[in-house]
Amino acid sequence: MSEVLIITTPAELRARSRAWRRDGMSVALVPTMGALHAGHMSLIADAASRCDRVIVSIFVNPLQFDRDADFTAYPRPIDDDVAACRAAGVHAVYAPTAATMYPDGHDTLVNPGAIATRWEGEYRPGHFTGMATVVTKLLNTAEADIAVFGAKDAQQVAIVTQLVADLDIGTEIVVGATVREPDGLAMSSRNRHLTDDQRRAATSIDEALRYIADEVAHGADIDHAVATGREIITAADDTRIDYLAVVDPRTFEPSDTTPARVIAAVWVGDTRLIDNREIGTE
Ligand code: PAJ
Repeated sequence: MSEVLIITTPAELRARSRAWRRDGMSVALVPTMGALHAGHMSLIADAASRCDRVIVSIFVNPLQFDRDADFTAYPRPIDDDVAACRAAGVHAVYAPTAATMYPDGHDTLVNPGAIATRWEGEYRPGHFTGMATVVTKLLNTAEADIAVFGAKDAQQVAIVTQLVADLDIGTEIVVGATVREPDGLAMSSRNRHLTDDQRRAATSIDEALRYIADEVAHGADIDHAVATGREIITAADDTRIDYLAVVDPRTFEPSDTTPARVIAAVWVGDTRLIDNREIGTE
């Protein structure tokens, strides 16, 4: 099995990426917060199929957590993650400490625009500013040809696409499909917090998303489809909906035309899950 470089400083990562590119190799970045699952691994496989060298960043970004409990509970199985990267043929893992990413005196934030004010932005104040700041830093450091993000976090993808265009960042954003459990639940590092009962209840999220996507694609009234979708989720034990809505896939404004995306954020017990489905072809 090939070795994987472990890189912990921005200077080292930039030097490595530049050396690869000088040698004529293309470079892909897959940004993650670790606790790697099949969803992350599919992005890594996608990156490897497109570029000669793959960098996976693993950094649980304190700046994008709106709740201390979520940050503290976030899983950090770094040895397993490095082993998974090695097995997948990843060339470098970038795992800086928080003090390296945000040294004393760090004082600049990237403030995303209108897209970030809605949905996740409304329910998780500061989340998208923290995300946009760390993604900008990662893209600037890795100087990769492409960076691969998952459709699972569709609003994140829309914000990153906008920030790369607005800030003239020369990395192409590639979007990988959402990987799901056999019963439809989107893979997430937070799924491991669910009890068996909550795990069963969580399947109602994809059930509702599929129902709404199917109904709206066949011309049904959006409000009616969403109302039935809400009932599907609330009928499951221990669930509470933050939002369930049909939106424009680029602006994330509520939409009544296709193509669109149906997006959801749902608490199952103390665990907050997000997911979405495409309606029509974007
Ligand atoms: P994280 O939640 O670890 O996700 C890393 C990447 O994996 C994101 O692009 C996310 O959309 C993707 N992903 C997560 N679950 C997926 C699934 N089931 N199928 C396909 N892709 C999936 O998203 C973040 O980290 C952070 O916000 C980050 C971009 C790293 C910035 O800190």
